[in-house]
Amino acid sequence: MRHLIDPTDLTRKETEDIVDLALDIIANRQKYSDACKGKKLATLFYEPSTRTRLSFTAAMMELGGNVLGFSDAQNTSVSKGETVADTVKVISCFADIIAMRHFEEGAALVAARNARIPVINAGDGSHAHPTQTLTDLLTIKRELGRLDNLTIGFCGDLRFGRTVHSLIKALSRHTGIKVVLIAPEQLRLPDYMKLEVCDKHGVDYREVQTMEEVMPELDILYMTRVQKERFLDEDEFDRVKDSFILTPEKLATGKDTLRVLHPLPRVNEITVEVDNDPRAAYFRQVENGKFVRMALILTLLKWAEENPELGYKLPDGTVVNSKRCSNRRCISNMENVETLFRPCDDGIESYRCAYCESKEK
Ligand code: NCD
Repeated sequence: MRHLIDPTDLTRKETEDIVDLALDIIANRQKYSDACKGKKLATLFYEPSTRTRLSFTAAMMELGGNVLGFSDAQNTSVSKGETVADTVKVISCFADIIAMRHFEEGAALVAARNARIPVINAGDGSHAHPTQTLTDLLTIKRELGRLDNLTIGFCGDLRFGRTVHSLIKALSRHTGIKVVLIAPEQLRLPDYMKLEVCDKHGVDYREVQTMEEVMPELDILYMTRVQKERFLDEDEFDRVKDSFILTPEKLATGKDTLRVLHPLPRVNEITVEVDNDPRAAYFRQVENGKFVRMALILTLLKWAEENPELGYKLPDGTVVNSKRCSNRRCISNMENVETLFRPCDDGIESYRCAYCESKEK
C-alpha cells in the first residue's frame, strides 16, 4: 500500500501527475463531485492547524466523501497514553484514508507502518510536510508555467521549517534549480538537507545574509515563519524572531514575474502592505492546497484498491533495532517503536534515522 510520508515517496512523474490531476479538477469541478462517494477521510491532528486540516476536509467534501477525526488530541485516548501505532490501527476500522499531523518527527512513518489504510503526512514535527510541497508545486506551475529552471530563495526558519525541507527535496529532482538560503546563523538549513539532498542531486545552492542582495535574480521568494513552538530556549527565539521581514521597499527590486510564496500562517515576516502586490501569491497558494489534496486523495485511494498489500517500503539497507536516534524529538525516542536506520549518503560512515533523518547517537 502506498502512503505519502515524505515527498520522495512519489516519483517526479507521479508528483507531476498529481499536479496535472489537480489542474484537471480546477477545470472540471463537476466531474469529480462524486468521486469519493461513500469514502471517509480521518483527520488526526495532534498539533494546531487551520489551512491544512480544513483544506483536507474541504477536499474530501468536494469529492463527495465524508470526514471524521480530531483537531485536539487531548480530547482523545491519546491523553490516556495511547500510542500512534494503536491509534491508527483503531482508525483503520473507521475510515478509508488518514491525514495526520503530529509534533514528533517520524510519527507519520510509524502511522504508515501500522495502518491498514493509506496515511498522508500532514506535517511531522520539523521534519516534513509533503502536501504543502504539492501545494507549492501546483502554485509555481500555475503562476510561472514551469517547475524547471527556477531560482528560488528560501527565507526565514530553514532549520525547523518542514515545508522548506520538503519543497527542496521535491525540486532537487528538477533541472536548472538554483536555491538561495536566506537565514540567520541559528536557523540555517540542516546538514542532511545540504549533504544528502542538495549535494547529492547537484542542486546549486548558496547561503546569503540578506534578501535584498538576491531579490533581482529570484523567480520565487519562499517566506517562512520562525517556528516558535520548536525552540527549546525562549531567549534564542527572541533573538531571531524578527530576522527577516519582507516589505514593499525590499520587493521593489524583484522581477515582474517574481512570485512570493508562504505556507502561512504569517506572523510579521511579510508586512500586510505586500499583500496588495500582484506578485504576492500566498493567498492563491492556499486555494491550490485544496485542489492538490483532492488529487492526492483520489490517487492514494486508487492505488490502495490496486495494491492493498500492507506496509511501507523502507529503503534498501535499512537496519532494525541496532541503534538510537540523536534527536530527542524523534518518535523513536518517545514511543516504543522499532528503531530504523539507513546508511548515510554523505561519504562518512554513519547512519541516519529513517523516522526523522537525524544521525545515530
Ligand atoms: C506550515 C506548517 O504547519 O508547517 N503551515 C501550513 O501547513 N500551511 C508552516 C507554519 O506553520 O509556519
